Amino acid sequence: MTADSVPVLTIDGPSGSGKGTISRLVAEQLGWHLLDSGALYRAVGYAAGAAGLDLSDAAAVTRCAETTKIRFRDPGDGGETRVIVNSHDATDELRTETAAAAASAIAAIPGVRTALLDKQRGFRRTPGLVADGRDMGTVIFPDAAFKVFLTASAEERAKRRYKQLKDKGLNVTLAALLREIQARDERDAARKVAPLRPARDALTIDTTGIPVAGVVAAVLSVVRPA
Ligand code: C5P
Repeated sequence: MTADSVPVLTIDGPSGSGKGTISRLVAEQLGWHLLDSGALYRAVGYAAGAAGLDLSDAAAVTRCAETTKIRFRDPGDGGETRVIVNSHDATDELRTETAAAAASAIAAIPGVRTALLDKQRGFRRTPGLVADGRDMGTVIFPDAAFKVFLTASAEERAKRRYKQLKDKGLNVTLAALLREIQARDERDAARKVAPLRPARDALTIDTTGIPVAGVVAAVLSVVRPA
């Protein structure tokens, strides 16, 4: 099987649309690999910050994206995948809203996106790949056989992020999260390169008020029609 013939399911959407949770569960059910592309942008944002770079310095941040070593490590006990950035386990730092905002800033730099292209496509391995992000169906895997775009109201997305971050012990307020999520989505949708938008051939699923199991079933039915 050549890499191009390995089936891909792309799951794109704004922050808090449930992409992360749904992608993980769907990948588990299908027995496919998982690409959390947001973690790559978070890792580059983190590495650039750790190196003291000005996040608007496109040339310096692009060089950083080209040279930063990012690895995913499965702890093997069903626990959270660890993200290793230049040999430092940065998993905890990467889940904060500060890391998300830095990711969103550097993600608008074309050179950064180019630097991460091959790395993302390298995840396409047999028996299949579930790719979670913003431009999986439009730019990274435009030939994917299965494409989904998840949405939910901004209020619901902020509530989900709030619960997620609280469960992880982080100190956040719902009002601040709603503002941050809206600002991030606006920037992601307005940028010139790979803006956040559904692929023309994606199925859009509004997950507002739908329990996780219902969304998983809806996404799985795209890959395995009844
Ligand atoms: O999905 P996650 O919240 O981890 O993504 C963090 C940020 O990384 C997003 O707000 C977006 O700016 C950027 N991103 C992107 N393209 C992707 C995945 C994430 O631009 N495929």
